[in-house]
Amino acid sequence: MKTNIVTTASGKANAYALFYVKKSIQFSNVLSEEAEKQVESVLNGMEDGPFEDLEFLEIDNQPTIFVNAAKERGLSSLDHLRMAAFRLAKKASKRQIPVVSIMLADAAPEQFKSILHGLHYADYKFDAYKSKQKDAFQVTFELVAGEHAAEFKKIADVVAIENKAIVLAKNLINTSSSDLTPAEFVENANTIAKYTPGLSIKVRNMKQLEKEGFMGHVTVGKGSSHEPYMITLSYDGSKSSKKAAKNARTSADHLVFVGKGLTFDTGGLCLKPPKSMPEMISDMSGAATVLAAIQAIATLELPIKVSAVCCLAENAIGNKSVLPGDIFTAKNGKTVMVDNTDAEGRLVLSDGLAEAGLIGATHIVDLATLTGAMVRALGYAVAGFFSNDDDLALKVINCGEACCEKFWSMPLEEEYADALKDHFADLKNTGSDAGAIAAALFLQEFVPENTAWTHWDIAGTAFVSKSWKYTDFGATGFGVQTLIELARRMSSVVCEEAANKDTDGEYVAVEA
Ligand code: BES
Ligand code: ZN
Ligand code: ZN
Repeated sequence: MKTNIVTTASGKANAYALFYVKKSIQFSNVLSEEAEKQVESVLNGMEDGPFEDLEFLEIDNQPTIFVNAAKERGLSSLDHLRMAAFRLAKKASKRQIPVVSIMLADAAPEQFKSILHGLHYADYKFDAYKSKQKDAFQVTFELVAGEHAAEFKKIADVVAIENKAIVLAKNLINTSSSDLTPAEFVENANTIAKYTPGLSIKVRNMKQLEKEGFMGHVTVGKGSSHEPYMITLSYDGSKSSKKAAKNARTSADHLVFVGKGLTFDTGGLCLKPPKSMPEMISDMSGAATVLAAIQAIATLELPIKVSAVCCLAENAIGNKSVLPGDIFTAKNGKTVMVDNTDAEGRLVLSDGLAEAGLIGATHIVDLATLTGAMVRALGYAVAGFFSNDDDLALKVINCGEACCEKFWSMPLEEEYADALKDHFADLKNTGSDAGAIAAALFLQEFVPENTAWTHWDIAGTAFVSKSWKYTDFGATGFGVQTLIELARRMSSVVCEEAANKDTDGEYVAVEA
């Protein structure tokens, strides 16, 4: 797919696309008077004739695709625009239309952004394991933006960076586990750090993890022939970015992402049943998501300090596997009894949270495909999140909404905290029947003091086994955009303050 943003239609299009809602065209103001009349009569006649989504009709002697952008059940207005654009792109590719002009002259910036995201989603395919790769027909979309062309071009650059990150996360998550071991993940992260200016990387292997007392990784990873790693990626936009340099002051915040990176989760000696096992290729979704997000944040040069910790291990069965009942000492000194070897994510995350504290996090966001309980509670469309800070929690909801990613606030219910206590050790890794809450309460024991923290359980939303919105099967990329948006909003508070002080008008606001 290619996109060109133009002021007026070039006349080279093989088809035009008009988005409509009920009886009105959503973005219209470039139509000729005659065309407008024809469109009106088409839409008014809607009830009489067979008029469907993506119908081709002749307007002004041009083939015109009518795209139904009416609200879909449960989706926000921005998300139904994404869906409409996604369907349009699929149809245009299937019908092999070389150039399609979309009329967007009076779209608002966030509507334009949504449409672009929808087009990009339609372009994603993961066929690395097919014996024959099918080349999808390449459609060029001419986005007719009128007087907004310059502004929309900037948005398109941002969307391209965001989409690259989404594709990166999805590709890593969809790759099978024998091909994406912890060491292979590290290779990928090294390459990304090398080619992303401003992004640095620190990698700890098994020996270093053990020496420094990151025993969660050691405990989970020692049963596998693939050794565990912990990666810390750092980007300091508060100093190095051009955008930051224009600001009088920069954010003192240090936002740290922590991602669960189980390249495969057999359950360990508490073996999972076969039915639920293949999906465990996606148990590194948290790590893939934080890697992708920091790559985009660094490329966008957002003026804020951000780090990403990837907690990588394989939960396998071997003669060194951790045994149920084993006790280890976590990085913060607390002792943990491994009650169930399948509750491994929280063990590696205890190290990730400790690392976040060591590098000076003011805000922590951890992402993990952590519990089956969360899948049962909220399914694939909504991620449950927990937070010890109301301000951060509100930001999560708002950023998610802006990115068409749904979050639901869950309680850190103290009444269930006692269930984590063990007879011998300080804690055990299972708790009450409320499995997602128990896991979050366990993680809270490892959050550094005086640090705002939020935990996102993405077990349901990271990977779908049936077609959902713009994903056929497999990784959804959930979380990448909300993390980027969070960094953007946390930095833009500072930007806005600085911009207000800027009298020569030189400051360029961070994009919406
Ligand atoms: N990786 C799983 C959670 C999961 C389940 C992710 C379904 C995606 C889809 C996690 O490591 C796990 O197995 N959790 C256990 C914890 C239990 C043993 C306390 C669970 O939820 O069953
Ligand atoms: Zn598990
Ligand atoms: Zn797991």
